Amino acid sequence: MGIWYSHITLGLLLVICLTGCERCNPDPCDPPCETLATPYTLEIPPFFPPMDIPSDNPLTEEGIELGRLLFWEKSLSADGSMSCGSCHMPSAGFAEPNVYSTGITGAQGTRNAMAIVNLGWASSYFWDGRGTSLEEQILEPVSHPDEMALPWDEAVQRLQEMPTAENNIDYPSRFEHAFETSVVSAELVTKAIAQFLRTMISADSKFDQWRRGETSLTDMEFAGYEMFIREGGDPEITPGGQFGGDCFHCHSEAGLQFSDYLFRNNGLDSAFTSDPGLAGVTGNTLDSGRFKTPTLRNVALTAPYMHDGRFQTLEDVIDHYDSGGLPSSTVDPFMKYNSGGLMLSDVQKERLIAFMHTLTDTAFISDPRFQDPH
Ligand code: HEC
Ligand code: HEC
Repeated sequence: MGIWYSHITLGLLLVICLTGCERCNPDPCDPPCETLATPYTLEIPPFFPPMDIPSDNPLTEEGIELGRLLFWEKSLSADGSMSCGSCHMPSAGFAEPNVYSTGITGAQGTRNAMAIVNLGWASSYFWDGRGTSLEEQILEPVSHPDEMALPWDEAVQRLQEMPTAENNIDYPSRFEHAFETSVVSAELVTKAIAQFLRTMISADSKFDQWRRGETSLTDMEFAGYEMFIREGGDPEITPGGQFGGDCFHCHSEAGLQFSDYLFRNNGLDSAFTSDPGLAGVTGNTLDSGRFKTPTLRNVALTAPYMHDGRFQTLEDVIDHYDSGGLPSSTVDPFMKYNSGGLMLSDVQKERLIAFMHTLTDTAFISDPRFQDPH
């Protein structure tokens, strides 16, 4: 009896195993399983909101690695001298130390390069917000005459023809692994770079470590943080004023982003002839002089400051806010120009600057995953 049963059991096991195996793997190479990209799970740091990742561009190991190669690919500029990383340098918090960037033709842009950090949480891109997705934003610098000045059809053709004697990266096969096609296109280039940019997350500054309870701030830094989140102005003149720095309304601490991702006029100018900001995109004069609130992450590394790089130091920036900025029809109500500015003492200014330095994340800028792989 025992033997009889065990034969049936064995037989059943065999049948289950065979059909089971057949079902899960009818033909191991159809579809071509070895080219399916490996899904990448992004770790969302503590206190950060979830990241919206477009469903048609999920993160994969192969896509991110390809994006990194492309971000640092000088062949994407007309004369092969410049990559994205030329203007978004790790040592400058992935921004650049010059007021204006000089493109490959020697032509200068009119705006200061922006820091690349935590962009997966932003909702629009560029100082005037004309980029509505990371993928779309990336189309611009490659073909822009003042930047890399390479028409996209040529950029695509160059990558398609690699590896060559000068460049030994087999891009067609990299695209095959990331996107299941070896046919390079502008769309896939932007998708790969966007994937890479979404992984460029800074969440390990001293401030982050303090928020996680791993370290303490100095008295100076903590006092600066308190200034940052306190309402500005003299309560006698400004209702609710608490003599604070009043930075948090715009450089919002929510989700540890240090930006509200809105467009504001922080009182740099009273007329907007040289750069209309958001109004240049919307055509609405009520948007004149309004620019994207930049994050303050790594701000101690990203000088010079503002859309036109007009301030060289954080001291200059604080003096600007202390003055309350210039009046105009679109100046933000959070600027205190009509009520005597912030009236900060020297030590209060120093505190604010000490706080801003706690947002420097050296692990981020030196992270080997973001450096030039070529
Ligand atoms: C010649 C210098 C230069 C090069 C090369 C360059 N950038 Fe930029 N980048 C800038 C400047 C300047 C801005 C701000 C432009 C503006 O707002 O009009 C900017 C803005 C951006 C932004 C917007 C960030 C934000 O917070 O809104 C992203 C993203 C970006 N660049 C990515 C790239 C990528 C990807 C490449 C390569 C394909 C690249 N850049 C190449 C100078 C450069
Ligand atoms: C009304 C909203 C608002 C307030 C209040 C505000 N900021 Fe800003 N901040 C902005 C905007 C918008 C910009 C970019 C303006 C531009 O370039 O035209 C900016 C730019 C900056 C920059 C330059 C960053 C860069 O990458 O170039 C620093 C630093 C800065 N702010 C710090 C502060 C501090 C510190 C406070 C408080 C004392 C403060 N801000 C208050 C909106 C604001």
